Amino acid sequence: MKSRKSPADTSSPAAPHVLLVVTGGIAAYKSCDVVRELRRAGATVQVVLTREATQFVTPLTFEALSGRRAFVELLPGLTDGAIDHIRLARGLDVAAVIPCTANFLAKLWAGLADDLASATLMALAQATPLLVAPAMNGEMWDHPATRRNLRELAALHGARLRLVDPVVKELACGEVGQGGLPEPALLARMILDHAAGVRGAAPGRARPA
Ligand SMILES: Cc1cc2nc3c(=O)[nH]c(=O)nc-3n(C[C@H](O)[C@H](O)[C@H](O)COP(=O)(O)O)c2cc1C
Repeated sequence: MKSRKSPADTSSPAAPHVLLVVTGGIAAYKSCDVVRELRRAGATVQVVLTREATQFVTPLTFEALSGRRAFVELLPGLTDGAIDHIRLARGLDVAAVIPCTANFLAKLWAGLADDLASATLMALAQATPLLVAPAMNGEMWDHPATRRNLRELAALHGARLRLVDPVVKELACGEVGQGGLPEPALLARMILDHAAGVRGAAPGRARPA
């Protein structure tokens, strides 16, 4: 199936194309505003949700905000004869994971590809800029496995990866800790700046058709 574009999607073909992966944390609702901010800035936004994310925010909400079909399932995974997780990974200026759960961070670290979101990120071209904004309970953030995952992901990907530190605030669980998502407008700006920064550092990189 082709991407569904709504009449409201007036983005030009030259607009930055952003893949936004939404995972199953309480801050998933904030990703809706990230989509709005990116659209306001002229970007096209393709949303992929994990199954758990759909417990927090529906794909329909993202479809309405992005003007495109939001994808969840890896299988059967064929749309108009193209394999979804490969097609979704192509032609991107930048990919972002907002919010990124502790679980999904561990999957990124391990290189797992057992759902559409993780398989699509594994299929990204190596030069595609990636921004990851973790959000979780403060103890999960401080957990040695999370610390290792962040450290080793940063070392693996270098400048291509922008890890956004969560902010200290009263979290949804009622505890105060470093686990909150920064504001959506700031995240949208970071995504576009990261795309421009990595592109600028690698002049001549061809954007796949
Ligand atoms: C109400 C609720 C809120 C949650 N919020 C978070 C969160 O903010 N961050 C996080 O890492 N996990 C959170 N979790 C746990 C994740 O939903 C769980 O680890 C899930 O397997 C993540 O799946 P995903 O990474 O595939 O999206 C929450 C769970 C519940 C029930």
